[in-house]
Amino acid sequence: MEVIEHDILLVGGGGAGLRAAIAACEASPDVSVGMVSKLYPMRSHTVSAEGGAAGVARDDDSLELHIQDTLKGSDYLADQDVVEVFVDAAHKELTQLEHWGCPWSREPDGRVSVRFFGGMSVKRTWYATDKTGFHMLHTLFQTSLKYDRIVRYDEYFATRLLVRDGVCRGVAAFDLRTGEVKCFLGRAVILATGGGGRIFPFTTNAAVKTGDGMSLAYRAGVALKDMEFVQYHPTGLPGTGILITEASRGEGGHLKNKHGERFLVEYDYGVGDRAELGPRDMISRAEILEFEAGRGLRGPYGDYVHLDLRHLGEQKIDQRIPFVRELARNYVGIDPVWEPIPVRPVVHYMMGGVDTDVDGATPGVEGLYAAGEVACVSINGANRLGSNSLPECLVFGKRSGEAAVAYASQGASEGPREALVGQAQAEEARLDALRHKVGGEKIAQIRRELNSAMEQGCGVFREEDSMAACVDSVRQLKGRYADIGIGDSSRIFNTEIVQALELGNLLDVAEAVAVGALARRESRGAHTRRDYPERNDADYLRHSLVRFAADGPRLDYRDVTITRWQPQERKY
Ligand code: FUM
Repeated sequence: MEVIEHDILLVGGGGAGLRAAIAACEASPDVSVGMVSKLYPMRSHTVSAEGGAAGVARDDDSLELHIQDTLKGSDYLADQDVVEVFVDAAHKELTQLEHWGCPWSREPDGRVSVRFFGGMSVKRTWYATDKTGFHMLHTLFQTSLKYDRIVRYDEYFATRLLVRDGVCRGVAAFDLRTGEVKCFLGRAVILATGGGGRIFPFTTNAAVKTGDGMSLAYRAGVALKDMEFVQYHPTGLPGTGILITEASRGEGGHLKNKHGERFLVEYDYGVGDRAELGPRDMISRAEILEFEAGRGLRGPYGDYVHLDLRHLGEQKIDQRIPFVRELARNYVGIDPVWEPIPVRPVVHYMMGGVDTDVDGATPGVEGLYAAGEVACVSINGANRLGSNSLPECLVFGKRSGEAAVAYASQGASEGPREALVGQAQAEEARLDALRHKVGGEKIAQIRRELNSAMEQGCGVFREEDSMAACVDSVRQLKGRYADIGIGDSSRIFNTEIVQALELGNLLDVAEAVAVGALARRESRGAHTRRDYPERNDADYLRHSLVRFAADGPRLDYRDVTITRWQPQERKY
């Protein structure tokens, strides 16, 4: 078996991964970084981020205000010490990107433009029209090319962390082009593989977002934290789930029901002209309530509401949100200059993820770090504010890159090489057996049933019975997964094997979401229970931690860190 060695190994090559790789190289003149990713960097999901990245930029804003907005948005489940670190660094990171060439949109006087986003009390979202993720990712990717010490292993699927005596020293990954399994050894490993929104059927998430890093860490002994908090974005296109950015509301767009009413004005959390700028959890709930009251519109893909941009005018739409126009024209045949766009809530982001500290280190497994959506650090708590996730990738990508280098250079040993290579060989044997596996179950069928169980049990509104049924279904599907059959035993670009492995990861992630949700008997942020409609700080101002065990997940809790901001009723 080929053994490849670097000082630092990254799994994932999107925004957080690239930022971590650059930070590692800047932190040490001779560190070598191996970047193992199932995708080419520019195909990672960061590319599809649209509306922008939050960071204090103007005199009417302050770090204090950004912190307060983030904590309130999180329904006070975010760790306050971490949010302070995040907000202090976010605007610096956006400026750093500017210096690396990110083409932020600008005002006529030359200042970087900022726009409103939901739950942010002032304009603080930096943007590059409405292709912000594309431009940020491009900037990071090109910057990473400066370092020949960053060696990319594009289209390698990491399937196992190599952990010995509680210390992580590598990954086993296979080359999608050849099927060959390789052993990657390093002194520290950073996971930056994104979220797992594909546990749901209707999502803005790319097909690649299958919770791979979450499952890797979970199986290696790290807890998954706050997994029950799944964000629905209020404006996805029916049918495809393609994101219509919140920037369209930040720029003044209105949401309307079938009577043409700006229904959000009637709910408790929209204020006047800014009714559409409430946080995502609340607006998604309002849309569902409109559907239930019969005030939604009906189409071939179910209920929807209208996003009306017509009053903005063609010039503003083309200047600020041209991609919205392009997407609406191409995917629903509607030109938003003249007609409203049909939209509905769509799964967008996972607040939960791999438990980490403020430097991305995972408690329990030494040498293992995580950053970006795969991680729960936690700044998002029960509900992330739109435009906080791009800077999250930057801030915590950088911190984990630096922390991993510090750890690796403090004499972290290489680890017992033979044992680690042995683990990779065992993984090779497992994958080989999988390629020839005979069984009665079909990947696509299990995945369809998983999606449906998650939508029914862990959607925008939740209840005891449907969540319990969801936990049960996921358990049964895990059992059936053991009996999947693989029809394609070839090695070269065997997409069936990829899908089988991804399905295993999805099942782990889904189970953690459902188990966490069932046990949290309160409503907080995106976790809304009809049977427990109130927030319950006395019992649940705590992070949930789901740990892997062979006979089913274990759940426990950890207190939230409160520094200066006492939890309050969340009013907008
Ligand atoms: O709507 C959007 O542009 C999404 C942004 C985000 O999730 O941060």
